[in-house]
Amino acid sequence: MNWKPDASMKEPIFRQIAKHFESLIIEGKLAPGEPLPAERKFAEELGVNRSTVVSAYAELRATGLVQSVQGSGTRVSERMWGVSARKVPNWRQYTLEASFRPTLPLISKLRSASTDPTKINLARGELSEDLLPRREVQELLHRMNIDDSLGYSHPQGSLRLRETLCDHLRKANGIYTDPEHILITSGSQQALHLITQCLLAPGDAIGLEGPSYAYSLPLFSSAGLRLFRIPVDDDGLDPISVKELYQKHMIKMVFVNPTYQNPTGTTLSLSRRKQLLEICEELRIPIVEDGAYSEIRLDKSEAPSNALVTLHGNSDLVIYVGSLSKTAAPGLRIGWVIAPSAVIRRMADAKEQMDFGMNTVVQELANLYLRTGWRDHLQRLTRELTKRRNSMLMSLQSNAEELCVWNKPLGGYHIWCRLKHIISDAELLDACIQNGVIVTLGIVYGLSMDSYV
Ligand SMILES: Cc1ncc(COP(=O)(O)O)c(C=O)c1O
Repeated sequence: MNWKPDASMKEPIFRQIAKHFESLIIEGKLAPGEPLPAERKFAEELGVNRSTVVSAYAELRATGLVQSVQGSGTRVSERMWGVSARKVPNWRQYTLEASFRPTLPLISKLRSASTDPTKINLARGELSEDLLPRREVQELLHRMNIDDSLGYSHPQGSLRLRETLCDHLRKANGIYTDPEHILITSGSQQALHLITQCLLAPGDAIGLEGPSYAYSLPLFSSAGLRLFRIPVDDDGLDPISVKELYQKHMIKMVFVNPTYQNPTGTTLSLSRRKQLLEICEELRIPIVEDGAYSEIRLDKSEAPSNALVTLHGNSDLVIYVGSLSKTAAPGLRIGWVIAPSAVIRRMADAKEQMDFGMNTVVQELANLYLRTGWRDHLQRLTRELTKRRNSMLMSLQSNAEELCVWNKPLGGYHIWCRLKHIISDAELLDACIQNGVIVTLGIVYGLSMDSYV
């Protein structure tokens, strides 16, 4: 907001603030239900005492223009529809009733706290700036030939990139596939979205790890899916629960992040992988394998990837989803899906309807990156992430032993801490923020997922 009160005026500052909002509301620029800025932050922005903003809001409340509700701040009164000289549509109603669900309020709070550079942010789920391959990407941009990369992309993504990916997936994960079975997507997030839109329908039930990757949950609920939790322990998810969920709820698909799982850091054991494949094959339930972190093996480990898609031998059961976000840079927005060709064609068709395919220049950049810089960068990255994981574990050991227990992840980005005593989520987050650290809370990972239904 650019507006500022004028200290040289006779009118008290709090009244100027109240009048300012009054005119915004009357002119329809602030719609019923819309929030006014939080008192403390707004006072800081204006350079006035918080009590001045409190008095201004109290004056607005007295006129009935705004309402304050404990815990959700001050908003324009819902009764204000029709007060405006201009007839504005009920935007709030539109936004609340549309099929796409808003982000959980707690995630929004985390996001806004994350913009504060003075805080240590452990909730980002992305590489810190110093670990991004900036120099390599810059060099590739200079060298890049864009002669044939400015038209619309092939609906499945650039053939060159898909060929390169086949090579890459074989070397990095032991996954054998061909370009016909690959669709390039805008990050693996879009891959998950396309799977839900093209293969599932509102009301369908799915099983997924509890806890599960936080940003997949609202995506699935927006698609009208019913979500059921598959319990996870130190060896990953429990395959027997998949059978039970099928018997109880007829789940139609299972979503798993079996290697260095977000958020628990666990890896599904080989015996459970085989058991899961057997159960899903018998029940004919497809598995979506999210391999976002599978290449980030710490401790110089040469651990075999054991991707479900390779263990099965017949990829018709498993849809594999991958991305450059965790090993290179999330800003590239390059992800991919490997699936049976009929499924790929269906999703490519949907993607074309949505956005006419991928950005051709970035696909060429990703192609060159995978052909040249990727291996060296990954080695440096895993070396550095191993160091950082170790110092985090040491810090937990010296500072948090009485508070919580945690695991030692063998790969990926996540350390999952379980509190020894119950503390409310809001209280915990506020305490962390006040102490300069931002962490993500278990609740955003759908631990009480069946309530998502
Ligand atoms: C398990 C998992 N899957 C998918 C994604 C989506 O990542 P992107 O769309 O950047 O590939 C993330 C991002 O944090 C993730 O943790």
